[in-house]
Amino acid sequence: EKGGYDYFMLKEIAEQPKAVADTLRGRLTEAGEITLDEVRLSDQDLRDVDKIFIVACGTAYHAGLVAKYAIEHWTRIPCEVELASEFRYRDPVLDRSTLVVAISQSGETMDTIMALRHAKVQKARVLAISNTNGSTIPRESDAVLYTHAGPEVAVASTKAFLTQLVACYLVGLHLAQVRGIKYADEVGAVVAQLQAMPSKVDEVLATMEPVRELGRSLGSARSVLFIGRHVGYPVALEGALKLKELAYMHAEGFAAGELKHGPIALIDDGTPVICVLPSPRGRAVLHDKMISNIQEVRARGARVVAIAEEGDTAVAPHADHVVYVPRTPTLLAPLVTTVPLQVLAAEIAATRGHDVDQPRNLAKSVTVE
Ligand code: F6R
Repeated sequence: EKGGYDYFMLKEIAEQPKAVADTLRGRLTEAGEITLDEVRLSDQDLRDVDKIFIVACGTAYHAGLVAKYAIEHWTRIPCEVELASEFRYRDPVLDRSTLVVAISQSGETMDTIMALRHAKVQKARVLAISNTNGSTIPRESDAVLYTHAGPEVAVASTKAFLTQLVACYLVGLHLAQVRGIKYADEVGAVVAQLQAMPSKVDEVLATMEPVRELGRSLGSARSVLFIGRHVGYPVALEGALKLKELAYMHAEGFAAGELKHGPIALIDDGTPVICVLPSPRGRAVLHDKMISNIQEVRARGARVVAIAEEGDTAVAPHADHVVYVPRTPTLLAPLVTTVPLQVLAAEIAATRGHDVDQPRNLAKSVTVE
């Protein structure tokens, strides 16, 4: 059932091109409109939305952090992302023009369910993104978009994360279309870019052998840091979470710009720092700043692993290892840059002799608060 892989997680990593393609399939009508699965909200309700809150836990929260960049860019609606477990306790400002997006693979995460219920009591509209048909979160929501990742067996989330990203992009594009704002014109182009992603993820998977080798050499690191900017920041958080969960190592993700405000003190001779670079073509300023951050950590002895776009010639002189991923529009890049980090975490965990599918102390679905 593991299809020739040592662990379900590796099988699920390999299934990501299909999971992304399946989540995109059938979402576009002949008129070029993006459709959700169940919508108990009118287009007028969606036009009235003046604020979005994304609530989720763990990996799903990281998908939400990426979504904020895309949704605000395409819709111009302010979007906040919050850990579901924190949301209701700070008395968030919600009303019927607030859209709360609850992201949950299982659809049964109690923290997320309670956040959703709190939102509904305050009359907010709730849209669910879930991988589990008919689970509690979609059932209690006003609208649903299902991810089609298929069952995820490994405790650490991989293919569900990529499909959550896709679903978030679709929600952003759908909102842009319904509201008919300026970026609605871009929707077709973005959909075409999304449709190219399964084969790009495939390309990444085909080049993972050096990453596995690198993983085997990192097994004895005391601590691993991950840095990124823009959408590379949530990718860094996700890379660090995977490593904590699977390898039981100290790992932390930072916004690269925050390094100098404290975390750079952590860097010691040989500390691995995984750097998620943006495309040098898209946001040149961000790219330049990442190169400076890489130089800063390297000057303090870091062992730099860069995740960079093919054709990025600026990074290699400053890095100990570069993992190249295919050229991708900036907002969609997490679909490719996350994959090497998943592979790295699985390989480091296996090198340290841990059960990659069943990490200690963790459950697949967290149904208690
Ligand atoms: C990380 C992981 C967890 C889940 C989190 C939310 O690999 O699996 O962080 O992402 O518990 O679970 P769902 O998405 O089912 O609400």
